[in-house]
Amino acid sequence: MANVLCIGAGYVGGPTMAVIAKYCPEHQITIVDINPERIAQWNSDDLPIYEPGLLDVVQEVRGRNLFFSTDIDKKIREADIIFVAINTPTKTYGEGAGRGTDLQYWEQTARAILANTQKKNVIVVEKSTLPVRASAAMDRILHSEQTNTQFEVISNPEFLAEGTAIKDLNDPDRVLIGGSDTESGKKACQTVADLYAHWVPREKILLTNVWSSELSKLFANAMLAQRISSINSITALCEKTGADITEVSHAIGMDQRIGSQFLQASIGFGGSCFRKDILHLAYLCEHYGFPEVAEYWDSVVRMNEYQTSRFFKTILTSQFNSLAGKKNAIFGFAFKPDTGDTRDTPALLLCQKLLGEHAAISITDPKALKNAKIDLADMEGDITFEPDPYKAAEGAHSLVLVTHWEEYRQLDYQRIFESMAKPAFVYDGRNHLDHQKLFEIGFNVFPLGKLPLSHLE
Ligand code: UDX
Ligand code: ADP
Repeated sequence: MANVLCIGAGYVGGPTMAVIAKYCPEHQITIVDINPERIAQWNSDDLPIYEPGLLDVVQEVRGRNLFFSTDIDKKIREADIIFVAINTPTKTYGEGAGRGTDLQYWEQTARAILANTQKKNVIVVEKSTLPVRASAAMDRILHSEQTNTQFEVISNPEFLAEGTAIKDLNDPDRVLIGGSDTESGKKACQTVADLYAHWVPREKILLTNVWSSELSKLFANAMLAQRISSINSITALCEKTGADITEVSHAIGMDQRIGSQFLQASIGFGGSCFRKDILHLAYLCEHYGFPEVAEYWDSVVRMNEYQTSRFFKTILTSQFNSLAGKKNAIFGFAFKPDTGDTRDTPALLLCQKLLGEHAAISITDPKALKNAKIDLADMEGDITFEPDPYKAAEGAHSLVLVTHWEEYRQLDYQRIFESMAKPAFVYDGRNHLDHQKLFEIGFNVFPLGKLPLSHLE
């Protein structure tokens, strides 16, 4: 039996440890966080994050072998294995601002581990996405003072996606564990592999060197984001030529070499990982003297911003180049469905641009209104937050779909049309709705990567 600790009770730490606790009942798992409010929420049934299936798992294991605490120092003293799942945001100041990763919390955590640990052998596991060679920095800090503890730092990046975290954790494509080639390094990797082997087939547990593991995480996100930017780049051409992006995506996706996933055109990708990780990858390339490689990856982020701006311009130009005083209903603010997370959501840039035109915006979202309010707190303008999509659309000139929540497909669009100002517009930033039906109801419909269906020409 091991005492497993996770520092950081966020989107990664919470679900990952809950699932480890579920499958490893003989181990005691504790999650700590510097934010006492977060810990209080984890100890209640009003969890701090929305994730389908998460509450069931937490209720099953909480108090059995999963515990949440704010007493970081004490829990470090008791721990044999310490997962570090704190946030590693993009640096906003100094060298590397806007691109590199801010490692101050990471270093604070390393120092807290060094100051408190008491066990003879302690394995520190990087869960957070980090720059390549971050584990070396952790290793150096942990060995910067004489202690009785033998530390082993390994990398075990998390590949779960929000909204499907529990499914992804229960049945991962692979588990990646990177460690040093020494005897103790190999032993530490085995110990962590044994945790996962409670439910993950051994052949899916990959053991690599530390740098490969760290780089694979950054690169996996960069590759996924690049696919989205690639498909999005073609939507502009489709809209001009009459090609249909859904047909194109289907046609190329049937090529097994390309594959069908992550080819869904959108207003742009969001989330806490993609932009941050690509920018960081580009920064690393630049740092190591490969500006052309950095430029290549930077362009994926630029294409993403271009896509959101292009979508905004469609909204502006199709409404006669004048949005001032017109209400636009924003359907969805989360960066994807089945989460309340709004980090890096394209909805934010879009809303900022709409407010810049003095448009009124009424935002609706099943789970993300709380975060939307925080994100837009400093913005001036006519902003309302409305849980009921029908009310959000009342009197609006346009309905702008940003997040493809399943429930948005089920709404009564005849009723919505009747309550809106005319001419009424729909902008579908995810190609999620039935465009022909909306057109027949009377809407002017602007999908992505398809010809618009308009009554106005
Ligand atoms: C991502 C990675 O998928 C995951 O492996 C990693 O651990 C964390 O980053 P996440 O950001 O939670 O996960 O969600 P993901 O499903 O990857 O979607 C990211 C963004 O891309 C969303 O805004 C989504 O709407 C968008 N997207 C995704 C598209 O626009 N088109 C697609 O085809 C797929
Ligand atoms: P992620 O999506 O990577 O899980 P989150 O922001 O959801 O990121 O979660 C990270 C968590 O780590 C937050 O709850 C934050 O309070 C916590 N955290 C950050 N720094 C520390 C620290 N030094 N010690 C303990 N917890 C920390």
